[in-house]
Amino acid sequence: MIYLDNAATTYPKPEETYDRIDYVLRNIGGSPGRASHRMAIEADRVIFSARESLAKLFGVMDSSRLVFTKNATEALNTALKGLLKPGDHLITTAFEHNSVARPVKRLESEGVSVTWLSGATPGILTPSEVRAAFRPETKLVCITHASNLFGAILPAEGIGAVCREEGVIFMLDASQTAGAVPFTVNSLSVDILAGTGHKALMGPQGTGFLYLAPGIEPAPLLDGGTGEIEEVLDLPERLEAGTMNMPGVAGLGAGVGFLLKTGVKNVREHEMKLCSMLLEGIGRIDGASIIGPTDAAQRASLVSFNIEGKDPRELGIILDEEFSIMVRSGTHCAPEAHKEADTFPLGAVRVSPGYFNAEDDIEQFLGAVRKIGAR
Ligand code: ALA
Repeated sequence: MIYLDNAATTYPKPEETYDRIDYVLRNIGGSPGRASHRMAIEADRVIFSARESLAKLFGVMDSSRLVFTKNATEALNTALKGLLKPGDHLITTAFEHNSVARPVKRLESEGVSVTWLSGATPGILTPSEVRAAFRPETKLVCITHASNLFGAILPAEGIGAVCREEGVIFMLDASQTAGAVPFTVNSLSVDILAGTGHKALMGPQGTGFLYLAPGIEPAPLLDGGTGEIEEVLDLPERLEAGTMNMPGVAGLGAGVGFLLKTGVKNVREHEMKLCSMLLEGIGRIDGASIIGPTDAAQRASLVSFNIEGKDPRELGIILDEEFSIMVRSGTHCAPEAHKEADTFPLGAVRVSPGYFNAEDDIEQFLGAVRKIGAR
């Protein structure tokens, strides 16, 4: 079996992730912030240590500004809906994942004005294109760091700098890059960073995060949590209502620990090598068209493509059933991006190598696609 769907969720996870989840479930009976007995205190430590590891990875000085969420969708919804009010202006891209596109459409229907930028090259946006869209009432720029369809890494550093100059909040959806592409919140001038824990951060599903720079205080999506009646909670607890997913966060902490030890730079180098092989190999297949840049250095570790005359969903099924190769085909929860790529409604095949894939996996995948293409 060859797993090449790491952009959906990484598999396998590092042994540390499995071991940590197993350990906390067996040995730590308490819930964080819910009692003062020793197991609850130990549970608090588990959460704190995961928060500190994530802060270290993203160069965040005060880890209390990092909130754990159940996924990237919750993180993105919290920031967008908690900050924007009717009359505010938001700039985003026309190729966002549903986790941004849908909350933004809802806000638009409620009176927030929105500029959906396509960019001169599909799937890419330049700082000057963002600058040209600013209005006096622009409050927020929210973009994907790398679209889960196009894969192009957007020039977040330049876009962040433009936002700083204009005094506009810069929010980045790093679902496809956190843990796979080296960056810190300062290197990209990011005010809000949202992402998931179960992709390149090597944690389990059910985990995500939201970083908020000092002074950015969205209203919570959910009210609840610890403390006395009417108590005003500080971050992170204010945005973490309800009993936490302690085993999940512990696993995420272990995944991040693995990355800190391995080095995101090394992960990036390995995945770029595999992507170069994919781009070159797919590029040579008759009738194949690659979506997004053809240089691995310009993209996250995913390559979407189509083969003329072949239904991408069928191709995905054949790869699984005949060759035991797992990829993701269809519209990838990003129909707007597929419209931009002109691949809606059938979608595309997406192959996404992870740190634990080897060159041989890519060779086998290319061999299988060549065979299917020749039929
Ligand atoms: N958004 C995830 C993907 O691209 C699940 O597959």
